Amino acid sequence: MQKLNINITKNNILYPITIDSNLLDKIDELFDFRGYTSIFIISDDNVAPLYLGKVSNSIAKSHDVPIDSFVFKAGENSKNLETVTEAIAKLVKLNIDRKALIINLGGGITTDMGGFIASTYLRGIDFINISTSIVGMVDASVGGKTGVNFEHLKNYIGVFNHPKAVIMDIDTLNTLPKKDFVAGFGEVIKHGLIYDKNYFELVTSKHPANFSKEELVEIIKKSCEIKADVVQKDERESGIRKILNFGHTAGHAFESLSFDTDTPLLHGEAVSLGMIVAAKLSELIGNITHEEFIKIESAIKESKLPILTSSYQLLAIKQKMKLDKKSINQKPKWTLLKSIGECDWNVEVGEKFIDEALNYVASPGRS
Ligand code: GLY
Repeated sequence: MQKLNINITKNNILYPITIDSNLLDKIDELFDFRGYTSIFIISDDNVAPLYLGKVSNSIAKSHDVPIDSFVFKAGENSKNLETVTEAIAKLVKLNIDRKALIINLGGGITTDMGGFIASTYLRGIDFINISTSIVGMVDASVGGKTGVNFEHLKNYIGVFNHPKAVIMDIDTLNTLPKKDFVAGFGEVIKHGLIYDKNYFELVTSKHPANFSKEELVEIIKKSCEIKADVVQKDERESGIRKILNFGHTAGHAFESLSFDTDTPLLHGEAVSLGMIVAAKLSELIGNITHEEFIKIESAIKESKLPILTSSYQLLAIKQKMKLDKKSINQKPKWTLLKSIGECDWNVEVGEKFIDEALNYVASPGRS
């Protein structure tokens, strides 16, 4: 069993992350449920049939506490205020009080939205995250960002608020669709690119599906360590935390635009495309060499993550990027590579380079 802590001493925030196989049957041993008046589990209709019963039974075997749940339709289209309202209506109907605990059981959509519900209901009640996807494990469930989309604008509404614990049972990845599993590696590769060249080499040394269980635990732990290190330095993203947005400026634009198509992108897929744009910009402004760029592009391609899209109009992408949460005066602030394993943030780039980098990911000739 691997354990690490998020410890933001300045703000008195401390919580454990536990990573291992076979954890869902012993949730009662991993968190102290005493003192809570009730437990409310939030999950989606893919994950709930698989794991909600297991989690409730594990708690019920040693705690006599009411356990209720709210299950929403899986997918990014549910990550909005309408679903939040439905969940809150159920909390109110059940008279759930502020001494209750919310458990978010699922991937990044569930932990982001469930964290937001817990953070706003009755001005905030405790929550824990039980993460069941790669994106959830290495990114969304850790670090205190909670929120929902607003009219296809990614994570436009939200608050910073941390869970009391995060539990990652890697057996849950066995039921994750292969496409989601691979997409999750977009965030894993991001951690290597922004923070640790050796880690980048390791996680791109084979196809994501070919890592053993033991290697996967190590990878998830290392990504969580990188994320913890960054978040501990800058909880509210006024500086270094912006490096975690590498690939997200264009990535969020691709993701938002894809919601209206028949082939919506998974978050990690959109981030992969966004990382190609950001790496290209890093090359164009002279931070990395063309050889380094090709190395990054090939690694992403070898992991079977997308590197090419011809689906979107340049203008539409640029319009979305202006509305990105990180844009100031409608100018995107880029997180770009200084080298493989090191990042700059708040970089402004000329329109010509942005067009060139965006056109590059839409050039079928290079696929
Ligand atoms: N997902 C980026 C962050 O947590 O800051």
